[in-house]
Amino acid sequence: MTQELAPTRPAPERGWWRDAVIYQVYVRSFADSDGDGIGDLRGIRERLPHVAALGADALWLTPFYASPQADGGYDVADYRTVDPLFGTLDDAAELINAAHDLGLRVIVDIVPNHTSDQHAWFRAALADRQGGPARDRYHFHPGRGDAGELPPNDWESVFGGPAWTRTPDGDWYLHLFAPQQPDLNWHSPEVHEEFESILRFWLGLGVDGFRVDVAHGMVKAEGLPDIGAREQAKMIGSQVLPFFDQDGVHDIHRSWRRLLDSYDGERVGVAEAWAPSPERLALYVRPDELHQAFNFQFLNCPWDAQAMRAVIQTSLAATALVGAPTTWVLSNHDVVRHLTRYGGGDETLGLRRARAAALLMLALPGSAYLYQGEELGLPEVTDLPDEVRQDPSFFRTDGQDGLRDGSRVPMPWSGDVPPYGFSPQGAAPSWLPQPEAWKSLTVEAQTGDPHSTLELYRSALALRRELPGLGDGPMTWEQPPGGYPDGLLMFSRPGFVCTLNTTPRPAGLPTPGRLLLASEAPAEDGAIVTLPADSCAWWAI
Ligand code: GLC
Repeated sequence: MTQELAPTRPAPERGWWRDAVIYQVYVRSFADSDGDGIGDLRGIRERLPHVAALGADALWLTPFYASPQADGGYDVADYRTVDPLFGTLDDAAELINAAHDLGLRVIVDIVPNHTSDQHAWFRAALADRQGGPARDRYHFHPGRGDAGELPPNDWESVFGGPAWTRTPDGDWYLHLFAPQQPDLNWHSPEVHEEFESILRFWLGLGVDGFRVDVAHGMVKAEGLPDIGAREQAKMIGSQVLPFFDQDGVHDIHRSWRRLLDSYDGERVGVAEAWAPSPERLALYVRPDELHQAFNFQFLNCPWDAQAMRAVIQTSLAATALVGAPTTWVLSNHDVVRHLTRYGGGDETLGLRRARAAALLMLALPGSAYLYQGEELGLPEVTDLPDEVRQDPSFFRTDGQDGLRDGSRVPMPWSGDVPPYGFSPQGAAPSWLPQPEAWKSLTVEAQTGDPHSTLELYRSALALRRELPGLGDGPMTWEQPPGGYPDGLLMFSRPGFVCTLNTTPRPAGLPTPGRLLLASEAPAEDGAIVTLPADSCAWWAI
């Protein structure tokens, strides 16, 4: 690499992650600079001003490493190389530096639970004999049944079907995701050493942290015991499973924390962890483990004030036990976009609720993750033709499940026709087609329109920076005099009040203070304010 690519560092700020707003970039779908219809690192660099102007503190980039792309890059063949689809290592270094120049930190994805089946280690494992040392880095086992024709246990892949695939010599290997994603054996010291070296490689290039993919999965229960039930994917996040959330994973996170702390600038680890309770999840963010863990209980909560209050309460209480902030998230590349979840087929309703949910989330104590396009009010694309779908879970379940492509449709930036500025003029069609209706949702169309979702997010993030009471810190549930109807929430932070109406009816309240921002304008009449249906408002007190 050239001299100019020496890593830069963002301004030091202690505990920056405790209330950071982190913008998730799905690399394939953000911006395409070379016209192949697929997003890339140079495209992201060119579009960084959008993220900076939005007011985010950091970016999280989904995997861009060398990969056969059997699972959107979460099948890594070489952790130290950029896939030519997305650019080069120099592009990655330039992107990191350009982000730092704009005051944005950069978090990259690390995928330690499994490699690609094209990784040199797995090829060596397949080439080795049964019981050979190259197989120790993965989970190779003989099958059950008279001729070993049955898988070693009853575990199912998260993407559907058995979690085991048989090799030509008769051994089976474990893959909790697609067969092209063999699970690593974290009892092997070589696996530990290799990942520490990979982390150092990227830290040396200047990244500010890692989002740890499947951080709950690296260690499996001793003896790989049967579960004795089907549809195991549905139990994730609510039940104890022998392949997820085993105590042993915490030793790995502790050792990674020591490594992160040995670098300057508070580099962070973010757990993508599914645990059966908020208390189990909080274990990942103990002071000597990772810094943040996505709060999927909040993401999964229905549009209902009481349910939301309960999730907020238990999440805050659980993280408070270990002194960590809570990390809120509404959407990511694995779930149906929240606009569509909340609207259930009615996009107008979904948009009202999505705008309100964003204000709720950004008013809560802690850090928040935004998924690219939510600031534009993008809905899930539910009518993608089968031929263009790429999500492996779609193929493993006969198309009944796992339709994750609908949240991964490329960003609309400008213009009236696809690719809406995603790719340069004359480019190949974008890897997933963008809907006609997105012409009114582009960044260009929404910029400067005070009623647009983009301007709502910009205002909210600007206020969040400005108001000392937001971000990290205390919150208190408020009860207006005389109480209020079910379906409303009200809480205060120092100098600030947030009101949320999750009902389909307007609701009257004594005016809490001076209106700062609202997802739908409330009607103020003297000392009484009427909150519109499905809306959230911020007040200064
Ligand atoms: C995580 C990723 C998801 C991927 C899976 C397997 O859940 O977010 O996209 O398919 O891990 O790596």
